[in-house]
Amino acid sequence: MVDFEIRPSGQPVPEARRKAILAAPGFGRTFTDHMVTLRWCADQGWHDGRVEPYGPFLLDPATAVFHYGQECFEGMKAYRQASGAVGLFRPEENAARFNRSADRVGMPPLPEETFVHALELLVGQDSAWVPDAIGTSLYLRPFMIATEPALGFTLPSDSYLFCVIASPVTAAFDAGTAPRPLTVWLSKDYTRAAPGGTGAAKTGGNYAAAFKATQQAVANGCDQVVWLDALEHRWVEEMGGMNLFFVYAPEGDGRPRIVTPPLTGTLLPGVTRDSLLTLAPQLGLAAEERRISVDQWRQQCATGEITEVFACGTAAVISPVGAVRSAAGDWPVGDGRPGPVTLRLREELLGIQHGNRPDPFSWVRKA
Ligand code: COI
Repeated sequence: MVDFEIRPSGQPVPEARRKAILAAPGFGRTFTDHMVTLRWCADQGWHDGRVEPYGPFLLDPATAVFHYGQECFEGMKAYRQASGAVGLFRPEENAARFNRSADRVGMPPLPEETFVHALELLVGQDSAWVPDAIGTSLYLRPFMIATEPALGFTLPSDSYLFCVIASPVTAAFDAGTAPRPLTVWLSKDYTRAAPGGTGAAKTGGNYAAAFKATQQAVANGCDQVVWLDALEHRWVEEMGGMNLFFVYAPEGDGRPRIVTPPLTGTLLPGVTRDSLLTLAPQLGLAAEERRISVDQWRQQCATGEITEVFACGTAAVISPVGAVRSAAGDWPVGDGRPGPVTLRLREELLGIQHGNRPDPFSWVRKA
């Protein structure tokens, strides 16, 4: 296991200021007193681990990540438990996905136990920054960047920096701590990911490629863009940063059904997505991974077969989708308000994450 040197900050944020931030944290704009850094080069492997004061990096302008975007990241959260302790939610899943992303963009793997240890060290050092209210949490952003100061582009960088920063947050799209229905824009002009590309990796280029379409969504009065498949522009994939679920009215077995697009390699395998598929049967819901076309989405909302739609992700938690807009027309989802299945899943997931509900799959790990 890699060693980390602890260098506590001499100038932590004053307590009164920290408490004011924790009372209304927003999303990803304020950061805790410390960060974790760890370096990699071929000769030494992973080395020089530190928990150190949060602060800027000094990097050569030729550093590879600035030019070729060789980087990957994760999004995960530490939750204040009902007991007062702090818990991480399924951090091993993020560690494994981090390495899959790193592999896709030619970066070295980080041992999963080192990834989780780094998170635990940071959360332990900055535990006073974990807010209490249900729906708030300490968002953790582990990332790795290519640090070789060279413009050659034949081979990947020969050195890397791994870092973890932390930010107290509420769910990204909530109004306060209540879910706010989103209006979404179906992107026909742009594509997020094609077969064989980087769509399943959490790498910055996927997010850079999304900004233009999100600007278009916002210009059309929407909150977020929904990505369709690259080949036919017909099948719903994800929202880029969030997966999508469709709630179908009960059929023969009397159970509502939650349906999400399958992992084809062009969408991100979300940890929240997987958790909801796993939890659904426990809550009397059927769960299915199946392709859904835009036409089905529209028609089945009109017939009442689709009763609710929601987006899910670590940052978003579970956000209802209230309406759809597209160049080809608009339609509402249900009555536009958060539906009962969406709210039930959200309550259950947050209950497990905060230690207020039984944790049947042992997902919460004490930090
Ligand atoms: C997350 O949900 O943690 C993400 O990384 C999505 C990001 C766009 C905020």
